[in-house]
Amino acid sequence: MIKQKTLKNNFPYIDIQNKYAKAKIALQGAHVFEYQAVDKPALLWLSDAAYFTEGKAIRGGIPLCFPWFGKHKSDDALPQHGFARTALWELVLEEELVDGSSHVQLKLCESSQSLALWNYRFELTLDVYVGEALRVVISVYNTDTRAFEVGTAFHTYFQVSNIDDVRIEGLKGAVYYDALTQSTHTEKGTLSIHEETDRVYQTHNDTLSFSDAKYSTSIESKGSSSVVVWNPWKEKSLAMADMTDDGYESMVCLETSNAREDTRWVEPSEVHRIEVRYSQSEI
Ligand code: BG6
Repeated sequence: MIKQKTLKNNFPYIDIQNKYAKAKIALQGAHVFEYQAVDKPALLWLSDAAYFTEGKAIRGGIPLCFPWFGKHKSDDALPQHGFARTALWELVLEEELVDGSSHVQLKLCESSQSLALWNYRFELTLDVYVGEALRVVISVYNTDTRAFEVGTAFHTYFQVSNIDDVRIEGLKGAVYYDALTQSTHTEKGTLSIHEETDRVYQTHNDTLSFSDAKYSTSIESKGSSSVVVWNPWKEKSLAMADMTDDGYESMVCLETSNAREDTRWVEPSEVHRIEVRYSQSEI
């Protein structure tokens, strides 16, 4: 079942329930803020203090970063992670598939507000497939007459039993930029997180995974050669109004992206896609 609903304050979202899973997607930002497969724990972490307010990014779920990742290259006054995550998208397709899974497509095109921030015409679509696994595909169409460069990301927050239990596999040998020390290193093996972490890995490995105390989650992607690993840890969480003080203990962000060296040029009439599939299995 796919239904259009609103929260108490009229914040619109799409509610999906089928034999495999349930999911919720806000029209603002085409933001998947809940996905839970039957008999599995919630895949996505959502802050207990998240804002569901027009124009404010939702802390948790899958924020979409576009057309730049992180701070804008040359203008700090422009919004961090671009404008797609706070823009109102349009639901253009909803369908129940023959196997009982569900598919919705949302769309965002340029507007007077986006042109004031980034002077290009574009069309973005997000396809969300809710089944035994969660699959999301973002397509960036260049509808302008000039080529443009984009940084795009699924800024996914995963729910974990405890951050101390988390082991991330698949990054061994990858070169990463540490945003906290502004230095470059090479990952030695399994990554675990015991302090504030903010890194962009460059990797051609299309399959990563992480485990916590009970589950292992696989992240299979196409169209991306960078992965951001982020946890704000205690002090930063205390300073963030939309994060509870201990929120950092139950989340990790592993962001399938086109970030830093992996930004992409898209020619007029061309399309660039990133797709990712998340699936959980009990350990
Ligand atoms: C991460 C960045 O992807 O997002 C961090 O690497 C940033 O530097 C974090 O702090 C959260 O960003 P925001 O804008 O949602 O608070």
